[in-house]
Amino acid sequence: MTDKPLTLLGIETSCDETAAAVVRGRVPGPGEILSNVIFSQTEAHAPYGGVVPEIASRAHLEILDSIIERALKDAGVALAELDGIAATAGPGLIGGVMVGLTTAKALALGTGKPLIAVNHLMGHALTARLTHGVAFPFLLLLVSGGHCQLVGVGGANDFRLYGSTIDDAVGEAFDKTAKILGLPYPGGPAVEAAAKAGNPRAYSLPRPLLHKRNGARGATAQRMQSIPALGGATNKENRADFSFSGLKTAMRQLAQQDIKFEDACASFQAAVIDILCDRSRIAMEMFRRDFPGSDRFVVAGGVAANQAIGDALTGLCREEAFVIRIPPPRLCTDNAAMIAWAGVERLSDKATGDALSISPRARWPLATGPI
Ligand code: KG4
Ligand code: ZN
Repeated sequence: MTDKPLTLLGIETSCDETAAAVVRGRVPGPGEILSNVIFSQTEAHAPYGGVVPEIASRAHLEILDSIIERALKDAGVALAELDGIAATAGPGLIGGVMVGLTTAKALALGTGKPLIAVNHLMGHALTARLTHGVAFPFLLLLVSGGHCQLVGVGGANDFRLYGSTIDDAVGEAFDKTAKILGLPYPGGPAVEAAAKAGNPRAYSLPRPLLHKRNGARGATAQRMQSIPALGGATNKENRADFSFSGLKTAMRQLAQQDIKFEDACASFQAAVIDILCDRSRIAMEMFRRDFPGSDRFVVAGGVAANQAIGDALTGLCREEAFVIRIPPPRLCTDNAAMIAWAGVERLSDKATGDALSISPRARWPLATGPI
């Protein structure tokens, strides 16, 4: 454990954002974001209604070097002044992850600085320490385009999975709903904006698994065994699992009728809010059993940028006597500052980097720890 503030370059290329950032700080935070450069490929993918992996990896390759240069220049930090180079090593679209990790390896080799291979989910999970210096332990609701999990975070290497989606991630449900309703990609911000002008009680939609505490039983349990990313969950009882595919099907059926799309968006968002609050309430019980007396609740990932969801979760925390922290929207969606910060946490803990032979990973569940 070192006490000196560390300065890290972070690189993020796991989906459709090419990002580099320089962060300085010491645990538990907050840290100082010296630069945070994000190039979004949204326009390149928009005609296809979703991210096209091949287009994404080519775009990362073309622009990453100049994004890193910008990040160093904005921060006023030379490569030689860095304490380490952190890059997302998974989970994500493998082509993109390879581009970022290989670039980081080259920089680490050229400068002799340690390489930190970061789990992207750990980046999201620890962002509230970068922004607010939130102490361990905390209960984490991680809601993004690829993930939907409730995790007890006991330390930078102690992740306890309380619940996870058995089908779609919540961001994916937003994106698919937007597509069904003819709204642009990415769907989350578009659905949220439309929902503001709609009636959340206009249409009655299903809320799968609501009030159920055994989401992993029966058919669901079988499905979970076939999804390696969900492995690591030993307690199949009393889990706070999510399901969104029934909601998506209901939206598809609804879209065939004569509907007001603002009302459809508001009704969809209301169903998502009910599901997230219900599951979080169950996970709060599980968390308090593991960490008696603890009261910190953190929301992270792209969907945490949704104001209505944030407001509802704030209400839930008031009822359940939890203190909520949601990073600002720009740090909820994919960025490299969170990767640089995860690097700060790893280097502070271990003071050594990863081997340059480390491989990128398409799948990398949070609960299993480092590679
Ligand atoms: O964390 P993120 O940037 O990328 C992943 O790691 O997946 O999350 C992207 C997801 C997308 O599905 C996007 O539609 C969703 O976050 N999202 C939102 C909002 N902003 C982004 N969902 C709901 N409301 C929003 N305001
Ligand atoms: Zn993400």
